[in-house]
Amino acid sequence: MFKNLFSIGQNFKSYTLVLIICLPAVTWAQTVAEGKQGAVASRSMLASQVGLDIMKNGGSAVDAAVAVGFALAVTYPSAGNLGGGGFMMLHTESGEVLALDFRETAPGLASKNMFLDDAGSVVKGLSIETHLAAGVPGSVAGLLDALEKHGTLSRQQVLAPAIKLAEEGFPLPSDIAEQFSKHQKEFQKHPASARSFMNQNKTYQAGEIWKQADLANTLKLIAQHGRDGFYKGKVAELIVAEMGRGNGRISHKDLSGYEPVWREPIRGTYRSFDIWGMPPPSSGGILVQQMLNMLEPYTLDKSRRNREETIHLMVEAERRAYADRAEYLGDPDHYPVPVKKLQDKAYAKQRFSDFNAQYASDSEAIGPGKWPEESRETTHYSVMDAKGNAVSVTTTLNTAYGNKIVVAGAGFLLNNEMDDFSIKPGVANTYGLLGNEANAIAPNKRMLSSMSPTIVTLDDKPLLVTGSPGGSTIITTTLQVLVNVLDHQMTLASAVKSPRFHHQWKPNKIFYEPGALNETEISALKNKKHVGIVPSPWKIGDANSVIRRNRGFISVSDPRNMGGALAY
Ligand code: DON
Repeated sequence: MFKNLFSIGQNFKSYTLVLIICLPAVTWAQTVAEGKQGAVASRSMLASQVGLDIMKNGGSAVDAAVAVGFALAVTYPSAGNLGGGGFMMLHTESGEVLALDFRETAPGLASKNMFLDDAGSVVKGLSIETHLAAGVPGSVAGLLDALEKHGTLSRQQVLAPAIKLAEEGFPLPSDIAEQFSKHQKEFQKHPASARSFMNQNKTYQAGEIWKQADLANTLKLIAQHGRDGFYKGKVAELIVAEMGRGNGRISHKDLSGYEPVWREPIRGTYRSFDIWGMPPPSSGGILVQQMLNMLEPYTLDKSRRNREETIHLMVEAERRAYADRAEYLGDPDHYPVPVKKLQDKAYAKQRFSDFNAQYASDSEAIGPGKWPEESRETTHYSVMDAKGNAVSVTTTLNTAYGNKIVVAGAGFLLNNEMDDFSIKPGVANTYGLLGNEANAIAPNKRMLSSMSPTIVTLDDKPLLVTGSPGGSTIITTTLQVLVNVLDHQMTLASAVKSPRFHHQWKPNKIFYEPGALNETEISALKNKKHVGIVPSPWKIGDANSVIRRNRGFISVSDPRNMGGALAY
């Protein structure tokens, strides 16, 4: 049945078609493109163009993904990065599926209570706005490792477009100009940040040419010397000097010792599909699979879209999966995460056996969880090519512009990923997520993530590449895109555009976007004793995705933001 679903409507044109769809509930246009050779969707049209050009000039989707990663560090600085980390899921043309972890690590001098005062209380802002908030960056090592092991082009070739964009500049898109202006007070606290994101102490206007000379030099050093151009030599000196300006703990040893890790992907099935997700230290792959396992026994076809029963069912799956996240998940190199148990269908059956179709379960109490006040910025991009490569990448500095500290002289921002650890049991992180011993801080440990880059295969061929930013909502966004496409049989554009809802166990609330729930559904959910059904203060997710159709691809940007989808 599903095979049929994915082989209908195949009259693709060989040119790129860009549809602009204006939606009432969203701010930006959605770009949709179709083509036969390759497709890319990212949060930045300039970065997507870099990826497309790489493929058009003979590069693979892996080359393109690496080039897009470096380009995003230039064109989308709130989340694209050199100073952060991320995850890559990769389906190679030879049919292997691989998971690359380039998550940041805690510095060697990190300690369990480093964000607490002498009385044992959390010092507000310390894990978010300071040099101490930064983990050891993983992006440069990760992207270069992917290129060396699975790419076809040289480092110089994939870095050239990012260097050009940084050196020659580009007209500043209006959404980025708005972000710069919104964060200017924070940038002004650090001279190097003000130098990068302000024009001689004035805000940049949309359309002005924005150049980043220091960043261009850092990128050139990486092109020349590979990972040593970043983790050793001048850039490493600049990072360590920056730490000295603010009590940060990243040392030369941390930098030269950083290693990305190729891990065994989370492989699960959902109906006729294989679902490949990121293993710990991401919670994403496990949670998506766990929730799909809970949903699988139920009918969720087209007729069940946006029905109160469907939302109730999904919320109850989310409640249980996120409760497990808080208890069991952390860095597998430091804590025995029960990976097999959590992704087991029999466990899902048992875990969901108290599901009541009539009533909401109790998340105990609304508890200490809080909904984030910090703006959310991570970014996801998807690339596929006709050779069978499919790449799903989510990368981040954690919150928007990380700790907002640009490494002076090196032109890139540092992350504030240390906040993703459980800095104290029972104290929620900026996304309201709770944690325990599994995710406690320890030297060189990776902090737990929700980033969920996902690849769906059908009959061993890549079918769908998706994922999202959005802190705790990453996982539920990814789940909804999967259910919308695989169950509700929506087109990818509608599946991505469709308004979303979110539940994360604690706080015991259903957050929903405008249009996700109508009045009838809200009152039906209230009758089932769902407490706290509240409009989401944020757009939920940003799922730039690509799908294969019989003889081609469709790429789709998420209309919640100003992304770009291209194909040829
Ligand atoms: O790894 C994580 O789960 C978080 N650091 C992701 C942060 C995020 O998605 C922020 N924004 N959209």
